[in-house]
Amino acid sequence: MLLTDTTDEKMISSRDALTIACIVRVNHAGEFGAIRIYSAQIFVSGWLWPDCIPALSDMLEDERRHCILFRDAMPARKSRPCRIMRFWSYGGWMLGFLTALLGRQGIWACTAAVEAAVHRHLDDQLHFLKGRDPELSGIILSIRDEEIAHLRHAEERLVSRSVTSRALRAVISIATDCLIWLSTWGDSTRMAWALKAEER
Ligand SMILES: [Fe+2]
Ligand SMILES: [Fe+2]
Repeated sequence: MLLTDTTDEKMISSRDALTIACIVRVNHAGEFGAIRIYSAQIFVSGWLWPDCIPALSDMLEDERRHCILFRDAMPARKSRPCRIMRFWSYGGWMLGFLTALLGRQGIWACTAAVEAAVHRHLDDQLHFLKGRDPELSGIILSIRDEEIAHLRHAEERLVSRSVTSRALRAVISIATDCLIWLSTWGDSTRMAWALKAEER
């Protein structure tokens, strides 16, 4: 079965249309999770690490804008908010709260791990969307520089290279990948495999 593309009248398969709906859904959920992480970190930083608040507030503002962009892209792609939004909400807030309690290095380790996972998935998505949904590609490209800036900001401040810090990044990275996988029911893995296969 073939469907009409939402943007350039190009025909895409129903399987691809489902994957595109999944991409919008998981990106919306991820942005919502990021909002919750940064909100909790700002909450804790209010009494413990006030110097971190300006950067975290700028990132929070970016994530709010990104979240709206993906929410607005949903109806045209027959996509709806993720069924496990509650995990992104509570999980994001707990992650932000606990890492902020660990200190500034906890905050930046969390940001670096989450933003690195986001960056990897956005690149996979851009590759998949090429020729399939230029409008969604454009939205992702428009936010990618800000996500990279978040990652760089965190990495520049991440002075601790201790085993604990590396373990924390690894655990957060695995947890983020698991949530993304659960939210897309494996489409994220399929896209990564397709990308690798084309590179060979
Ligand atoms: Fe974002
Ligand atoms: Fe971000």
